[in-house]
Amino acid sequence: MNAFTYKNNELFADDVSVKKLAKEYGTPLYIYSRTHMRDQYAKLVEAMAEVDPLICFSVKANSNLAVIKTFVDLGGGLDIVSGGELFRALRAGADPSKIVYAGVGKTVEEIEYALKENILFFTVESEGEARRISECAVRLGTTGRIAFRVNPDVDPKTHKYISTGKKENKFGLDIARATQAYADAANMPNIEISGMHLHIGSQILSSAPFGEALERVRDLCMDLKGKHESFKYLDIGGGIGIKYEPEHEALAPEAYAATVVPLLKELGLKVVLEPGRSMVGNAGVLVSEVQYVKDNPFKKFVVIDAGMNDLVRPALYQAYHEIIAVDESVTEKVFGDLVGPICESGDFLAANRELPAVKPGELVAALSSGAYGYTMASTYNSRPRPAEIMVDGDKAFVISKRETLQDIIKNEISLEEVI
Ligand code: LLP
Repeated sequence: MNAFTYKNNELFADDVSVKKLAKEYGTPLYIYSRTHMRDQYAKLVEAMAEVDPLICFSVKANSNLAVIKTFVDLGGGLDIVSGGELFRALRAGADPSKIVYAGVGKTVEEIEYALKENILFFTVESEGEARRISECAVRLGTTGRIAFRVNPDVDPKTHKYISTGKKENKFGLDIARATQAYADAANMPNIEISGMHLHIGSQILSSAPFGEALERVRDLCMDLKGKHESFKYLDIGGGIGIKYEPEHEALAPEAYAATVVPLLKELGLKVVLEPGRSMVGNAGVLVSEVQYVKDNPFKKFVVIDAGMNDLVRPALYQAYHEIIAVDESVTEKVFGDLVGPICESGDFLAANRELPAVKPGELVAALSSGAYGYTMASTYNSRPRPAEIMVDGDKAFVISKRETLQDIIKNEISLEEVI
């Protein structure tokens, strides 16, 4: 299902006019379809039904409380990566027994917070982290449940910044080292070995690397299952790729399931998934207003009111976001760059591309912006972050207000006050 379609020549989010929302709430504006999120979740549940996984939405993809709550209400768990995300998860009403906590740099404070909340398990990235969890658990008189993150050294064939399961990446432990780490952790006080974690990267468009990763860890899993009664979970992370470019195809949940389910069934462990992008990426657009159209002898620039501070993916990963006019009757095309107001040459949402020939005052939408869009936004150049709207059928809700200029300086202390 495509949540963003033209009706009577106008772009709609579900049954709500994008132009109307832009008029009411201003631009730049993030708009999400709740229907699309629910559909994506349901499709994954259905495809993976044979192993009945715990689907832990990866909060980093879109951490708005209303988005988190959408998945919590569907019975999902959450994958978090910081104390901040744990705070959000709890605020959104998540059940701590369905929260898994990843990340290479967990602090004592963060570990203690998660232990006190009694989360399902920590996915552990190093021997040092296991020791730290053990020490914290002893201090608090509780148990730290852990799943080491194993780095299976497979190439997910995605952008190098979002590939995480190769030996040169900072994530996890290789198989030999993980084997030893499990043996050592089993003797640490107040530690329970709950399972194993894998996450090989993001925006993966073929199911093959997932299968390869599972095959590589199969023997170790079977061995650990035999050794530890508490070894019950296999968390295979996220990474399912979505469609960004019109000519690409998303990795369908059925194709993903066809590869991983047989291997998972054989292992007989409780399966945990951590999808982020595939749940919310195509549920969101970033809408902006054209300010100027500018030419130089070499190029045409369409200058909009959204910048790299609002959506950094094109600048950071040369990521492709499809750009469409909100008014479908704009059929003419121009070749050039779609740029923002930030003082950086890297500030573009599209570079050297065919773009709709929009004029100042007209609206454009950057598609597939629901994942790693707002969560990676900043106030660079002192630009307040956009508002976020959630649409559900014919209803629209503001789920975060546009930041104000006051908001962006609220933690600052003027020199007169301190000297
Ligand atoms: N689990 C772990 C441990 C992760 O590190 C990630 C993403 C996920 C799950 C969710 O992966 P997904 O299903 O979304 O692929 N900012 C980048 C993506 C970074 C992904 C980081 N980890 C981007 O905009 O493409």
